Amino acid sequence: MKSGCVTVLCVCACVSVLVRSTISEPVTESHTYTECTDGYQWDPQTQHCKDVNECETIADACKGEMKCFNHYGGYLCLPRSASVIPAPEPAHTPTVPEPFNPCPLGYEPQGDSCVDVDECERDEHDCQPSQQCINTQGAFTCQCPDGYRKVGTECIDIDECRYRYCQHHCVNVPGSFSCQCEPGFQLAGNNRSCIDVNECEMGAPCTQRCYNTYGTFMCRCDQGYELGPDGFTCNDLDECSYSIYHCQHQCVNQPGKFYCECPEGYQLLGTRLCQDVNECETGEHQCTESQMCVNIHGRYQCVDTNRCQEPYVQLSDNRCICPATKPACRDLPYSIVNRYMSITSERSVPSDIFQIQATSLSSGAYNTFRIRSGDDNSDFYIRQINNISAMLVLARAVTGPKEYTLDLEMLSVNPLLSYQTSSVLRLSVYVGPHTF
Ligand SMILES: *[C@@H]1O[C@H](CO)[C@@H](O)[C@H](O)[C@H]1NC(C)=O
Ligand SMILES: *[C@@H]1O[C@H](CO)[C@@H](O)[C@H](O)[C@H]1NC(C)=O
Repeated sequence: MKSGCVTVLCVCACVSVLVRSTISEPVTESHTYTECTDGYQWDPQTQHCKDVNECETIADACKGEMKCFNHYGGYLCLPRSASVIPAPEPAHTPTVPEPFNPCPLGYEPQGDSCVDVDECERDEHDCQPSQQCINTQGAFTCQCPDGYRKVGTECIDIDECRYRYCQHHCVNVPGSFSCQCEPGFQLAGNNRSCIDVNECEMGAPCTQRCYNTYGTFMCRCDQGYELGPDGFTCNDLDECSYSIYHCQHQCVNQPGKFYCECPEGYQLLGTRLCQDVNECETGEHQCTESQMCVNIHGRYQCVDTNRCQEPYVQLSDNRCICPATKPACRDLPYSIVNRYMSITSERSVPSDIFQIQATSLSSGAYNTFRIRSGDDNSDFYIRQINNISAMLVLARAVTGPKEYTLDLEMLSVNPLLSYQTSSVLRLSVYVGPHTF
C-alpha cells in the first residue's frame, strides 16, 4: 500500500487521513466488550475490527469538487480527476510520482470500488515471449502453451514423438506432433493408429481383378490374359504364339481366348485337329445320277460310272473288258478295273499306299505286276509280295493338290497251258493339299 499525500494532485485535502493500527481485544468474560480505534468498528461475525466506509457513513465527507475514497481506518478526499489519471511506472519515470492507489496490489480504483488490473493486457507482466500471460484476480501467471513445458523461465517444445504416440511415423512440430502412416495405410480416427487402405475400393488401377492385401494390393488377370510389366494392365495372351496351344491348321487369337480353324473341306475334331469332311456322305456333293462320288482329302470328285472306252465294254460298275472276239483287243489288257484313293501331302517315304491282290491263281501259273503307264511313274514303284499280290509304293514326298492315274498291270502266265492274260487296275491317286 502506498502512503498518502505524495502526489502533486493531492493538493490540500490530505488532512483527514487517519491511519492507525487496528486493535482487537478478545475478552474472556461472557459479557463481550470490544473497542476499535477510530475509523474501525467491531464486526461480530468475523470477530474483528472492520474498516468503516466513511464515504458512506459521513454526509458530505469531502467538500466541493473533491471525491471521497474510503481507506483503512480513514478516508481520502481527492480531486475527481485523481483516480482516472494512470500512475506512471516509478521505475521508468522516477521523477514523476504515480497517482495514489488506495487499492490492494493488483487492483485499482474504479468508481467507489477496486477492480482487478489486467496485467496481461496492459503489458505489465514479466512473462517470457515464449510464455502465455494469464490474468488472475489481483495477479497474473505465466504459462506455457500446449505442447510446451516450462524449463526454468523458458517454454521448451515437448517432443511427443519420444513417447511412441504413433503406430507408424511421428513428426514432431513446435507445440504439437502429427502421426503419419506408411504408403497403403491411412490414419485412423484417433489420429495415431494406421489402418490398411483398401486400394481396390479406392480406384486401384487394375484393369481386371484387384485383390487388397495388408498395406498394398495385387492385380490379377482373367484367363487368357497376362499381367503387363506395370503390374496393373492385363494384356491379351497370344495363345497362338505358344506351342502348347498348337492348332493343326490355323490358330486364331482373340481377346482372352483363341480357337483353331480348319481349311475348307475340313471340320474341327475336338479343338485342335482337323478332319476331312466326307462330302459324299453329308450330301454336299453335286454328282449326277450317272456319276459316282469319291471323297478325297479336302474335297470330293465326281467320276463317271461308265468309264469304258472303245473297244472296252462295261461289265460291271467299275469293270471294263475287252472281248477277245474284237481284233482291237488282241494286244490290250483283258480287263480294266477303276479304283480311287486319296493321300495326304508330304507323307514320309517310302510309303506303302496300295496293295494289289489277284483273286485266284491256277496251278502252275505265276503273276507279275508292273506299272504299265502313269502320269509320273517315277514317283511310285511296285514291290511284289508274292505270286498273287504286290504293293504300290510312294517313292517321293509329294505335295498336293495333285492327281495321278496309274495303270497297274498284273500279268498272269501259265507256262503249262501256254496261256497269258493281263488285267489292269486303273488307280486314281489324289494328293490332298494338306498333311492331314
Ligand atoms: C484428428 O485430426 C483432425 C485434423 O487435425 C481433427 O479434426 C480431429 O479432431 C482429430 N481427432 C482426434 C481424435 O484427435
Ligand atoms: C509262285 O509261282 C512259282 C512259279 O510257278 C511257284 O514255284 C511257287 O510255288 C508259287 N508260289 C505260290 C505261293 O503260289
